[in-house]
Order: sequence, then C-alpha cells, then structure tokens
Amino acid sequence: MQRAPSAAAQKSPSWSFAMEPWRTLLVLAVAAAAAATPLIDQLAPGQEWPARSSVGQPGDSTKEEIKVEDVFSGSTNETAVEEVDEEAFAKAVITKEVDLTKDEITKVDYSGAQVWKIQTNKRSVVAVVGRLRRRNLVSTWGGNHTHMDILVKPNAVKNVTRAFKRENITYDVLIEDLQRRIDEENPPLDENELSLQDRRGHKMTWKQYHRLEDIHQFMDYLAKTYPSIISVNSIGKSHEGRDLKVLRISDGKPTNKAVWIDGGIHAREWISPATVTYFINQFAENFDVESDDVKNIDWYILPVVNPDGYEFTHLGDRLWRKNRKPQGTTRVCFGADLNRNFGYRWGGKGSSNNPCSDIYRGSRAFSEPETKAVSDFINNSAVNFTAYLTYHSYGQYILYPWGYDSVVPPDYQQLDIVGKDVARAIQQTGGSEYSVGSSSGLLYPAAGGSDDWAKAKGIKYTYTIELSDTGRYGFILPVSYIEPVARESLAGLRVLAAAVNKA
Ligand code: ARG
Ligand code: ZN
Repeated sequence: MQRAPSAAAQKSPSWSFAMEPWRTLLVLAVAAAAAATPLIDQLAPGQEWPARSSVGQPGDSTKEEIKVEDVFSGSTNETAVEEVDEEAFAKAVITKEVDLTKDEITKVDYSGAQVWKIQTNKRSVVAVVGRLRRRNLVSTWGGNHTHMDILVKPNAVKNVTRAFKRENITYDVLIEDLQRRIDEENPPLDENELSLQDRRGHKMTWKQYHRLEDIHQFMDYLAKTYPSIISVNSIGKSHEGRDLKVLRISDGKPTNKAVWIDGGIHAREWISPATVTYFINQFAENFDVESDDVKNIDWYILPVVNPDGYEFTHLGDRLWRKNRKPQGTTRVCFGADLNRNFGYRWGGKGSSNNPCSDIYRGSRAFSEPETKAVSDFINNSAVNFTAYLTYHSYGQYILYPWGYDSVVPPDYQQLDIVGKDVARAIQQTGGSEYSVGSSSGLLYPAAGGSDDWAKAKGIKYTYTIELSDTGRYGFILPVSYIEPVARESLAGLRVLAAAVNKA
C-alpha cells in the first residue's frame, strides 16, 4: 500500500482533484499487484497494511453470514418508539447547497429553541409528537422506551406547550436556550494552551472540539513521529472530497488480534471524534508501557466517518446529523443517515425513504461514498477483526446487535457479559452509568446500522457505544466534559481489549 502523502499535501481537502472512485480502485489494484506477496509477519509493522491480495486468507472460506434462522426473538415491546422513528425526524433546516470554501454560509440560529424530555408512558404521546414533527414544530434528539428528548423549534414553544397540556403529557425543560448553550460549548483555547499547542507539533487537544484539519494533521504527526508502530491511510473520500483517514497502531506481531474503531458517523456527536482521538493519543504516546492486551491488538481507527457533516456542524448547522450529499431526484434535501445506509437488512424499520428525513437511508445500501469506503476497506483487507466499535452520543448505552429488529444474535449472552464488564469499568473510573443491551431492545429498531453489518460479517464483539451525557446537554456537551468522558471510556476500552485477547 502507499505511504500517506506528506502533511503539506494533505493539509486541505483536495476539492479540485478528488479522484473518481473507479480510479482509486484502479490505483489500489495496481499498487497491490505490484507489491510482492509477503507473508503477514513479513510486513513492516508501521508501514504495510495487510491487503487481501498480499497475504493468505486463513479462514476465508469458513467465514459466512449469520443466517436469519440462527437468530431468535428477544423481547418485543418496541411498537411505541418504533412508530416515532419510522416517521421523518425533521425537515432539513438548510436546503441550499453550500460551498464550505466560500464565505456564503449563514449559520442556523437556535435562539429561542428548547430541548425537552418527555415521558412516553402515554399512548397519545407518540401520535402528538408525530403531528408536531410533521408541522415542523419539533424534532427528535434521542429517546428509548420510557422517554424522548425533543428539540422544540423557536417560536413553537407556545404551541407545543398547549398541545402537551391538552393531552396531559408531562415534560421537563432540559435546555432553555439552545443557542446560548451552543455559544458556550466550545470556547477558544486560553493563551497558555495556545503556546503549548505551538510546541507540540500538532494542534490537537482534549480541551476543545477541533476542526477536521486539526484531527487529520494530528494523525499525520503521529505517523511521522512513530513510524515503527503508526501509519495513516486514506481509505476513500467523502462526497465533498475529504479524506477518510484511518490510523493503524500495531507492533506488527503476526499473532495480534485486530480491532476496528470509528467515530463521527453522525456529524453533531462531537464527543465521539474527541474520545476516539484521545484513545489514539494514549496508545501512541505510551505504547511501550501499554498493557499486553493493548499491544497484542492491531488497532484501526477512523475518527471521523462523516467529515463533510462534521465540518458542516462547525460552519453551518451545529445540529446536522447526516452526510452532505444532495439526495432524491429533486436534490433539494441533503444527506443520508450513514447509520441507516449499511447493507445488512437495509431499508427496514426505523429508517426513512424520505430524503429530507434525518434518518434517510439513502437510495440503496452503500449509496454513500463514506459507508462504501468503510465496507470496501473491511471487505478487501486481509485483517480479521475481532471487534467493531462505533462511538456515538448521547445516552450512555453500550448496545449490541441486532438493531434492525427486536431479535438478538446467538452469542448475545457473551456480548452482554463483556458489555457489562465494560460498563462497570467506566463506572468505576469516572462514575458514569451505562446501560447495556441490544440496540433494538434498549432503544428502538433501526435498520442499516454499521453495527449490524459488522456483526453479520462475523465480527464477534460489535458494539455501538453512546457516550455521555443522558440529556442535560445532549449533543452540546461542554468541552470540560471531554477529558472525563474520554478517560472513563478508555478504561472501558481496556476491558474490551482483554476480552478480545481471550477470544
Ligand atoms: N443512536 C443510534 C442510531 O439511531 C443507535 C444505533 C444502534 N444500532 C442500530 N443498528 N440500530 O443510529
Ligand atoms: Zn449517532
């Protein structure tokens, strides 16, 4: 495989010379063919990533999709929340194509918007919220079987209050002025931090939510600084041409297991890339003194699966969730929910065929370049992943498959035990309480998630981890939370690493 290009060449997304997908494939194919065929343990640790064409495929033929017949039903009390999610969340706020390189972006203003937590114990709740959503007065932030967090749009507070009073629906106001929270969430670094930043060789901190460029430059810096254990590869490009950069940490032992970690598939969940980059920093800077459990794993980490959406949340709409590809025949609405676009049972419950919906599944499985790149990489690499961890926010959940419906895989009890061990480590380290269960059982059915796809490929320890908090700040988690959340999450990850080594 190619070495990562120089930092200078990667500095800005290559708007003008984004490669056509077929070209990228061609280049990769040629590069792979040109390489000799070393054994997996002859690959230089930091440099070469095992490619399907370059090494033998132990167990290739035995790996097969888990059959539907092997799955059995779990608890089914999903109806209430399912209806909620089946509907379009909210109309897209911005329908105009914006060029992030130009100064023409007007930021979406959330002044006067509120976030409420409502109890969903009454049957009428689902219908009422559905109606309010269709009238574009509210959108959904989160929820499970017992409650729902909704964003009440500016100027809608009176109407929504009246509707809830009429139906006797009880609620708490979590956020009184959303725009004020947004304004206070991510303040600039103080002078002390800025001067430290200058001396470090990269700009990444865990005292701020950083732009994509800082994250990418940090990854390149680590690859340059620790070439014997770290390398960075772009596994493809986003719709707008940004790199999907994966960092690999490995000491090259042929006996190592492999773990995939990603973050930032949903643009607005800023704590996710922040936490995932914290893992990278810890492992990279302290590899020598790391536990054997960590060193015996090849880590493949993609901190931002959805770079276009992520940049858009910094520049246009803080609460954007999807990617930024124009959708449908009219192209008036933007973005597919990348976590509804994966190809296992794509198109099922909890996903929408409306391009304007926040849970739009895309026109077909892997219609989006970001999900296509992730699946191509995992399909085409020779790596045998034992775990697939995808970090989201918020709610404090450790979720295992299945997501598409209220059923669980045959080995769910093992997933449950390890999940609970992880949760305990998190709790003992930082105090946060995580609930553990299947995502359809604990939250709501939602098909097309990356976790289901990974599990169906046979990746044993597949989890979606919903980081902090439980709704006080929701997506707008102040920067002072980054370090505590990341630190306790790392403790959880170490427990997972131990389970992977035993697998
Ligand atoms: N909050 C996540 C989402 O709605 C949970 C995903 C869980 N996994 C699943 N396959 N439904 O996308
Ligand atoms: Zn998410």
